[in-house]
Amino acid sequence: MDRSRIASPGHRAKVMSAEDAALLIAPDTTVGLSGFTASGYPTAVPLALAARIEAEHAAGRPFRLRIWTGASTGPELDGALAKADGIEFRLPYNSDPTCRDKINRGQMEYFDMHLSQVAPAAWQGILGPLDTAIIQVTGVREDGALIPASSVGNNKTWLDRASQVILEVNRWQNPDLLGMHDIYYGAALPPNRVPIPLIRSSDRIGEPCFRCDPDKIVAIVETDRPDRNAGFTTPGADDLAIAGHLLEFLEHEVKKGRLPPSLLPLQSGVGNTANAVLTGLIDAPFDDLTAWTEVIQDGMMALLDSGKLRMASSTALSLSPELSERVNRSMGDYRDRIILRSQEISNHSELIRRLGVIAMNGMIEADIYGNVNSTHVMGSRIQNGIGGSGDFARNAYISIFMSASTAKGGAISTIVPHASHVDHINQDVQVLVTEQGLADLRGLSPKQRARAVIETCAHPTYRPMLADYYARALAGSWGLQTPTLLDEALSWHSRFVRTGSMAFGPGGAG
Ligand code: COA
Repeated sequence: MDRSRIASPGHRAKVMSAEDAALLIAPDTTVGLSGFTASGYPTAVPLALAARIEAEHAAGRPFRLRIWTGASTGPELDGALAKADGIEFRLPYNSDPTCRDKINRGQMEYFDMHLSQVAPAAWQGILGPLDTAIIQVTGVREDGALIPASSVGNNKTWLDRASQVILEVNRWQNPDLLGMHDIYYGAALPPNRVPIPLIRSSDRIGEPCFRCDPDKIVAIVETDRPDRNAGFTTPGADDLAIAGHLLEFLEHEVKKGRLPPSLLPLQSGVGNTANAVLTGLIDAPFDDLTAWTEVIQDGMMALLDSGKLRMASSTALSLSPELSERVNRSMGDYRDRIILRSQEISNHSELIRRLGVIAMNGMIEADIYGNVNSTHVMGSRIQNGIGGSGDFARNAYISIFMSASTAKGGAISTIVPHASHVDHINQDVQVLVTEQGLADLRGLSPKQRARAVIETCAHPTYRPMLADYYARALAGSWGLQTPTLLDEALSWHSRFVRTGSMAFGPGGAG
């Protein structure tokens, strides 16, 4: 294999096979890996490690690890290690189905943190020591600086904190990525923390590469594998309706003079609906847009290609396979319009607040008072995790949550009397959108919010049930600030668990 991606002779001497590199990881240790979505994550070493773990288990030797990442990764990492039963504990965000299943069966511990807080928690030492970092990079420069790949995530922190480092140099990543990243080395813990010197989304405050003590690097593995994010579905009627309501709202805010004509930096969460909203912005009457976000999905790329979006700051590219190949081929064309940063910067509360980000995120459910559940189905089963939604919602200029008004073919109302789990308290939720409509909850008291949410966002099947609940809560609640019928508040969820539907009637009686 052509070694030209490793310009430093000292580093070249450490090239070995993935299998040999995997032997350097001991059981019952902590491993920090690159990856934020299925972008820029190591593949060869985790696959070799999974094979080794299976062999150890077959020989009756326990081998489990504590795994830290940037956020979700791909099947060769989370999927392979989970299938080998090699993950004892994992943080933060996960969307891998095998991990999800193990977590929900109680076979894997999962610490679902705000993404901005992972690196600071590691610096504080509250997560314990980090034994090994496994980081995908695009190349190694002659001076030993590491050229980052298509995601940054927590890589800087894992490289700093780990006792030993294993690099995967991925030839698939375009060397033109050099110069796209902005790695900030000025963060410190209190009492030495200083303001982060970033005023606009387009500001660069760091360096293009990671620093890494060469003495810590114990292995370098060369690979050639594409990023592997899932594709997006064609937007359905609900997605298009949600996008329509949201764009109408943004236009209204501009007309009222509460937003500038180029809006404020956009943050868009994971998933199909968020992607559809961004695609919808192409035909909206806004120009010179900017983005301050954590993932750049296909919709944002389309907006960038259309010229409507001037630039995007993120921690990861998270593109469908087709788009990923195309963008990777022409990466140099995007270097001036995309900045990839560490996740403690992309999701930093100080910066989100200063820039005045418009945050748009998906949700599992919201209650009539606007408390939002982003993570748990029926209060107890994890779907993915909080991701960056809390970082953005609490600090956004406008915090928007969206979902279709029903899930699972109508058996579930996503607007409920009482959220079965709360990730975002009502104070952090300013706008709720479903395909039925948009409720602007800013400045409303709990009772005013309940009326707006029921009338605007609920599905017609569930609206009368919610109105009935709310009327009885008004008559029978112990207090009337946030009327609640304690014995009934979670009955919709328990009815679903019992009968398979939140609705009354055939299939949902009782
Ligand atoms: N009850 C049960 N299941 C529900 C549900 C509800 N109220 N709402 C959604 N779901 C299920 C869907 O049925 C679907 O399940 P499936 O994969 O088995 O079909 C799954 O959740 C995803 O829902 P979908 O409607 O496709 O929406 P999405 O792709 O927009 O994802 C979230 C929605 C909430 C899961 C997703 O946005 C998320 O993980 N958010 C938390 C993290 C976050 O916001 N990150 C961004 C910050 S930058």
